[in-house]
Amino acid sequence: MRAFITGGAGFIGSNLADRLLADGHEVVVFDNFSTGQQQFVEHNLNRPNYQLVEGDVLEKALLASAMRDCDMVFHFQANADVRGGMKNTLIDLEQNIIGTHNVLEAMKVNDVQKIAFASSATVYGEPEQIPTPEAIAPVQTSLYGASKYSAEALIQAYCEYFDWQSYIFRFVSFMGPRYTHGVIFDFMRKLRMDPTTLHILGDGSQRKSYLHVHDGIQAILTAVEKAKDKTNIFNLGNTEWINVVDLADILCETLELKDVKYTFEGGARGWKGDTPFVHLDIARIRALGWEPRYSVHDTIKATIHYLKQHEDLLYARS
Ligand SMILES: NC(=O)c1ccc[n+]([C@@H]2O[C@H](COP(=O)([O-])OP(=O)(O)OC[C@H]3O[C@@H](n4cnc5c(N)ncnc54)[C@H](O)[C@@H]3O)[C@@H](O)[C@H]2O)c1
Repeated sequence: MRAFITGGAGFIGSNLADRLLADGHEVVVFDNFSTGQQQFVEHNLNRPNYQLVEGDVLEKALLASAMRDCDMVFHFQANADVRGGMKNTLIDLEQNIIGTHNVLEAMKVNDVQKIAFASSATVYGEPEQIPTPEAIAPVQTSLYGASKYSAEALIQAYCEYFDWQSYIFRFVSFMGPRYTHGVIFDFMRKLRMDPTTLHILGDGSQRKSYLHVHDGIQAILTAVEKAKDKTNIFNLGNTEWINVVDLADILCETLELKDVKYTFEGGARGWKGDTPFVHLDIARIRALGWEPRYSVHDTIKATIHYLKQHEDLLYARS
């Protein structure tokens, strides 16, 4: 297929591009490099089956012309900063909802009938049911989550109107190669500045599940191959979870830092919109034959080792 990846220069999108190329597909990446990195795409620039279009999903005409002759869209562009929505209450609407609408309109113009969408576990807010199945009625606790839930709804409606197929993935946090934002990233930056103290947002008891990006991409491709409904919604997560203090312990041990003092700010939540316990029910994706290969512990270790070897990335994004 000729795959169109919005956000294909970012952490997850660029890993997906590499995997699709390795599987023999053609790839068109559409990205404005707001958080994407040249170093994640440059090894592909001379490949005949790879095209990079530098552009913004808010530029509708450019988006539509770049998508010409594509068979499927992987919509992975977003404002992926969950915390930022309280300071800038417009960004999630503009980037994640209008951005998705523009992608759907470009699909209509080009008669592209399949879309995979990077949604998030954040759409569940603070669910009562843990592990959380896909079929709950969530209450939104962040504008990021609300924008992802709204984008899912837009995608579903386009699929109903035009008989398209969609694959909606609600991810826990992904980690692994090219990881450029999230808890380990924040902690490593803080420890670079002061290796004696680690300031933790929240009381450190927040429990989260993490998935290795290669496992996540394998799950996405499994679902695209095997799921047959008009709208196919899947949780993507790991079988276990870890709390923030235990994660910090693994980080300090791996970095060989001794006697780091942890300080805490806030209570059960690190910030408004943070979810104290993220653990998804992954029975639906497992029923298609997918299993995570990396444990949460191995995922964390792999991410720390990657960032140790690519310390420039710690400062590539503000
Ligand atoms: N990383 C995670 O753990 C995680 C968890 C849940 C959901 N997601 C979702 O997965 C997707 C990918 O996340 P990521 O971690 O790779 O983030 P990322 O920030 O690394 O990637 C996003 C990419 O989109 C590009 N982009 C942003 N705004 C754009 C615009 N207006 N026009 C064109 N390109 C634009 C950026 O330059 C970047 O390359 C996002 O939709 C994110 O919300 C990520």
